[in-house]
Amino acid sequence: MSEYRQTVRGSIYDYPRYYDLLFGSDWKAEFDFLEACFQRYCSRPVRRVFEPACGTGRLLIRLARAGYEVSGNDLNAAAVDYCNDRLERFGYPRSAVVGDMADFRLARKADAAFNTINSFRHLPTEAAAVAHLQCVARALRAGGIYILGIHLEPTEGDRIQDEAWTARRGHLTIHSYMWSRGVDRRRRMEHLGMILDVYTPTRHLQIEDEMGYRTYTRAQFRSLLRKVPELKIAGIHDFAYDIDTPITIGPSTEDVVFVLQKT
Ligand SMILES: C[S@@+](CC[C@H](N)C(=O)[O-])C[C@H]1O[C@@H](n2cnc3c(N)ncnc32)[C@H](O)[C@@H]1O
Repeated sequence: MSEYRQTVRGSIYDYPRYYDLLFGSDWKAEFDFLEACFQRYCSRPVRRVFEPACGTGRLLIRLARAGYEVSGNDLNAAAVDYCNDRLERFGYPRSAVVGDMADFRLARKADAAFNTINSFRHLPTEAAAVAHLQCVARALRAGGIYILGIHLEPTEGDRIQDEAWTARRGHLTIHSYMWSRGVDRRRRMEHLGMILDVYTPTRHLQIEDEMGYRTYTRAQFRSLLRKVPELKIAGIHDFAYDIDTPITIGPSTEDVVFVLQKT
C-alpha cells in the first residue's frame, strides 16, 4: 500500500463533490432527452420540474439554467446542501429539501418529474415503491409525466456485472468501479460493491462503498405499475436516450427509461 493512501468505508453519497464530478459530466444526453420527452409526451407545457432523489442536482442545475422552475428531494443532507449551494450560486432558490422519495408532498404540483440512473431501486420494498409512485402521481398535474430510468432484471441472457467511470477536474482525479456482488432472487435484492479512488497531488483516498438495489423483472415492474393506475406508460426508451427510438422490452432487456403519464 502506498504511504499516502487512506482507505475508508463510506457511502459515495456522503461525498457530493466526488459524486458530482464522477456523474455530473454525463448530463448532456440525459438533459436533451428530458427536454425531448417534455415536448413529445407531456400534454401541457413544462415549466415546473421535480426530481425525487435529486442528489447533488447535476441535472436540476442544468434545467434551472435553461429556464425551468426546479425542485427536488433527497435523503442525504450533504447532497441536498451541495445542490442548494450551487442553485444559490447561480441565483436560483434553494429548492432541494431533505426528504424521502416514498413519503413527500409538493406545495405546488409539477408538470414533469424524473428519476434516472436507478435511484428508484434504492427503495427496498414493494410498499415503498408503490408509495413513491403514489407520491409522484399526486405531485404531478394532469397530463404531466414521470421519466423513470432503471435497469430491469433480465430473465434471459447475461446481465451487466460491472461498470467503471473516470473523471478529472484540475488536480482531482477519480476512478470508480462498481460491481454486482450477487442477486438474492427471493428477497429481490442485488448487492453491489463500489470502490472510489480519489487522487490529489498529495493524497489517495480510497472509499469502499456497498449498497443494495431492489430488482425488477419486466413482469414485476408491470405488476407494480398496475397498483398505481393514475400513472400509465406513455413511452419506453433506453439509456441511449434517443427520443426517436422507442424500444420494446424483451426478456433480455436491461436498461429502460419509462415515460409514465399522469391520467
Ligand atoms: C444514484 S444517486 C442519483 C442522484 C441524482 N438523481 C442523479 O441523477 O445524479 C441516488 C440518490 O438517491 C438518494 N436516495 C436513496 N434513497 C432515497 C429515498 N428513499 N428518498 C430520497 N432519496 C433517496 C441517495 O441519497 C442518492 O443521492
